[in-house]
Amino acid sequence: MHPASPIGIFDSGIGGLSVLQALRHELPHEHFIYVADSGYAPYGERDEAFVQQRTSAIARHLRAQHGIKALVIACNTATAAAVEHVRREMPDLPLIGVEPALKPAALGSQTHHVGVMATRGTVSSARFARLLGEHSQNTHFAVEACDGLAHAIEQATELPQPADLHSTELWARCAQHVQALGSFGLKTGEIDTLVLGCTHYIFVKDELRALLGPEVQLIDTGAAVARQVRRLLGQMDLLAPAGGGAPEIELYATGGLNSLKAAAQRWLGVAPQRCEAVEIG
Ligand code: SIN
Repeated sequence: MHPASPIGIFDSGIGGLSVLQALRHELPHEHFIYVADSGYAPYGERDEAFVQQRTSAIARHLRAQHGIKALVIACNTATAAAVEHVRREMPDLPLIGVEPALKPAALGSQTHHVGVMATRGTVSSARFARLLGEHSQNTHFAVEACDGLAHAIEQATELPQPADLHSTELWARCAQHVQALGSFGLKTGEIDTLVLGCTHYIFVKDELRALLGPEVQLIDTGAAVARQVRRLLGQMDLLAPAGGGAPEIELYATGGLNSLKAAAQRWLGVAPQRCEAVEIG
């Protein structure tokens, strides 16, 4: 591993781009290789063994083909199912996962009522149960498994106009989940904080904000994960030096490229050096 080597980052689809955005901001000299496992997505309702197998295959690929110096699992479902599994398989690979930000939510909530939106895979994992147990002493968490929401966001992103991301179907899905949290329109004023426990959900932040009202704080993990990656690479003397060549972004997808291209254009703010299909068996 070398400071000039790239950082690998992966997600089941476009959600991890929100983490990549935060990483670019925190680590402007790094070279990033992003894999969207869109050929095998969504992960949210798959069983744990499947997600472990895909996560391992992608970690091996990124290591063998791109010589990554660290891997960011920018997917809550994959982190919950597979981070320990990959750590056991590759103990020398610096590995950073994402998990729902229950701790900052519990610390920041004035009402001590926090909503959590995440995939079924995440909320039914042992890792999430542990996390919930650690932060539930003074806070009530209302947890909603948002079946199909990540997939709907991927599909809406493929549509030609950005306005279509706010499509009626997506709005209706967001409304259904917010309603299930018992805070529709937030008339009760109970929940003052909502944790976005899936990296895809940042792309419907506007819809959620409109449904929840301005009093509710939305919390995602992108910036915190980026700071954690900086700290870890710093401790290992693996930070890319400034002036070591122009930073690059390469994007790969195991399925269709349309949503990745569209999302990168809309959300990343820079053109990637590459955006290609890849097979990872
Ligand atoms: C999904 O593929 O269902 C989304 C996974 C995630 O980011 O948790």
